[in-house]
Amino acid sequence: MDFSLSEEQLMIQEAARDFAQNELLPGVIERDDAQKFPTEQVKKMGELGFMGMMVDPKYGGSGLDTVSYALVMEELSKIDASASVVVSVNNSLVCWGLEAYGSEAQKQKYLTRLATGEIIGAFCLSEPEAGSDATSQKTTAIDKGDHYILNGTKNWITNGSTAEVYLVIAQTDREKGHKGINALIVEKGMEGFEIGPKENKLGIRGSDTHSLNFNDVKIPKENRIGDDGFGFKFAMKTLSGGRIGIAAQALGIAAGAYELAKKYSKERKAFGTEIANHQAIAFKLADMHTQIEAARLLVYKAANDKDNGGNYDLSSAMAKLYASQVAMETTVEAVQIHGGNGFVKDYHVERLMRDAKITQIYEGTSEIQKIVISRSILRD
Ligand code: CAA
Repeated sequence: MDFSLSEEQLMIQEAARDFAQNELLPGVIERDDAQKFPTEQVKKMGELGFMGMMVDPKYGGSGLDTVSYALVMEELSKIDASASVVVSVNNSLVCWGLEAYGSEAQKQKYLTRLATGEIIGAFCLSEPEAGSDATSQKTTAIDKGDHYILNGTKNWITNGSTAEVYLVIAQTDREKGHKGINALIVEKGMEGFEIGPKENKLGIRGSDTHSLNFNDVKIPKENRIGDDGFGFKFAMKTLSGGRIGIAAQALGIAAGAYELAKKYSKERKAFGTEIANHQAIAFKLADMHTQIEAARLLVYKAANDKDNGGNYDLSSAMAKLYASQVAMETTVEAVQIHGGNGFVKDYHVERLMRDAKITQIYEGTSEIQKIVISRSILRD
């Protein structure tokens, strides 16, 4: 078993680390405070090839593997999870879905611009009354021959106002249950498509989260992804890959908090010595380091399964479940190690703690991951 990274993967990891230090760290506290979207930073990430990392270069992507993508997500998330979620949604939920299941015309029209970061995309599944229970969609896409008429509301949509392209999951035939659901490409500015208010969030405050309203929006049939009724499977398959990105984000948040806590514990003195010399602190660091390494192995395993063409539904769910738990526990401990300083914004760990929480909620809550895992292991 070889756990080493290739030369190329190490280079990409370093590029992401440098970018995070030089371009994301300055202003991260201010963006979080002001709920300011990292517009300039997203543009630069597009130039670095981070917005369409796994997309074939013929569609403007970087043609890299999922492990490289996870490495980038980890490095960006150590500093700024609000910026990394933009990368995650654009790469895994929008570009991947379009490349895997879109028509050639859809790829030419949308993917080529999404993969370069010229525009960004959003994935619209959750609704006010259907988050985890994804088959209970209330949004409807009624078949009118050569087009659909879309009506309904989507909630908590990442990149809600900044996206230009929205992949919307909607019910066409309720009688058919999940087989009556379609995925449609909706463009910003289509008549009847309104962007609702921005959410005022606990964490990832620099990211742009909105509700969306669709009132009789006319969507041409050529904007449907895949065959009629494929929308639910499209969403499930896309989310399986998305969960690798969020697991890597959780890993990065945990690793970022751990690195800050370790550094602080070697500088801060109490009772005549650096606090790292007190076993109470050293043992916390030992637990954090061990858990982060275990999470990292699960994330790399899931990414590797995807790269090798294996089934990654189980490994991505396990990686997300565990890494998000580690992110939450590690960031709480990082704040504790910082003591009073941990509670103020200048030391970054309180932000990482707030950012960690969403990784246990979006792209399938921890409880949903346990459904996916238990169903998978009990099927054997
Ligand atoms: N790949 C392909 N097909 C899949 C699949 C997968 N990973 N998972 C399920 N399916 C198929 C099943 O095989 C089944 O098809 P057949 O009937 O043909 O066999 C069909 O889909 C229905 O599956 P289930 O009966 O398992 O469906 P369910 O209603 O019990 O739900 C669930 C399963 C796993 C709980 C699912 O509803 C789920 O994942 N829910 C969570 C949704 C979620 O993650 N939401 C997050 C919102 S997106 C977001 O957060 C984005 C953001 O902006 C950051």
